[in-house]
Amino acid sequence: ESTLGAAAAQSGRYFGAAVPAGRLSESAYTTILNREFNSITAENEMKMDATEPQQGQFNFSRGDQIANWALQNGKQLRGHTLAWHAQQPGWMQNMEGPALRQAMLNHVTQVATHYRGKIHSWDVVNEAFADGGSGGRRDSNLQRTGNDWIEAAFRAARAADPGAKLCYNDYNTDGINAKSTGIYNMVRDFKARGVPIDCVGFQSHLGTSLASDYQANLQRFADLGVDVQITELDVAEGGNQANIYGAVTRACLAVSRCTGITVWGVRDDTSWRSDNPLLFDRSGNKKPAYHAVLDALNGV
Ligand code: G3I
Repeated sequence: ESTLGAAAAQSGRYFGAAVPAGRLSESAYTTILNREFNSITAENEMKMDATEPQQGQFNFSRGDQIANWALQNGKQLRGHTLAWHAQQPGWMQNMEGPALRQAMLNHVTQVATHYRGKIHSWDVVNEAFADGGSGGRRDSNLQRTGNDWIEAAFRAARAADPGAKLCYNDYNTDGINAKSTGIYNMVRDFKARGVPIDCVGFQSHLGTSLASDYQANLQRFADLGVDVQITELDVAEGGNQANIYGAVTRACLAVSRCTGITVWGVRDDTSWRSDNPLLFDRSGNKKPAYHAVLDALNGV
């Protein structure tokens, strides 16, 4: 196959990109997006600050632009993200305790209900674990409402949209390390107690090397009975960029429950990073990394 989406579809997987709503009016951009990708994620437009700028007053206008584009162009849609310590609206940043817990659950319910039936997979909770060696939770206003805030969010999301796969999503989880093991233990506990969780997202914002146990880490989560997805892939430019992109793609293909890959942007000039981490250059040309991914998806 000659495009990323079609090549991924050969094995029943998707290949997606994060998209900012503002680019949907740039035809050079949407030409690549529409041609190469069969899934999209809103880069910012479905986050808490975007969708509930004032408490109880929801604004889905920018998120709907993304959702409508996906629907009109036959793309799958990943939802990102219902509950997160960052990009909270101002009113939420200063809340605590039961009032914050209730506001968070109402947010999850309202947003998941609005997009019910349109979202393939939701990042229900994003980045709730701490970096470093503790393996524990990140401190945040949400965490301080009680350790059960994550499972409460997943139960609310399931009730609001029973058809969506519900994911936990995080970064620096690219090998077997303290942080990924903390998440692994949470997922194992959720599965044992019947907390609704279907998938784990590995953001995979990568530097100049790839953990040697990247695939083994994906596999151990899959063995818990959840799907795994690469959700925000980007890789520092340098001698290894194409090799790392290829290796990540092959790792996903080697794990039967790795259902898809999303790159965190289309062209280098639209990335949140300044080190040209994407598959297309600023002129929209395919980079060596693109060909490494396409070859891997095609099994060559
Ligand atoms: O839209 C406003 C604009 O009106 C304003 O003038 C400008 C001034 O700062 O800010 C603009 O908003 C920025 C927004 O991106 C849109 O460009 C925010 O400041 C900026 O913080 C925001 O950054 C986003 C970041 O998440 C916020 O945490 C990035 O685009 C987005 O790529 C990034 O994505 C995250 C994932 O959600 C979670 N995982 C990590 C990943 C990378 O940080």
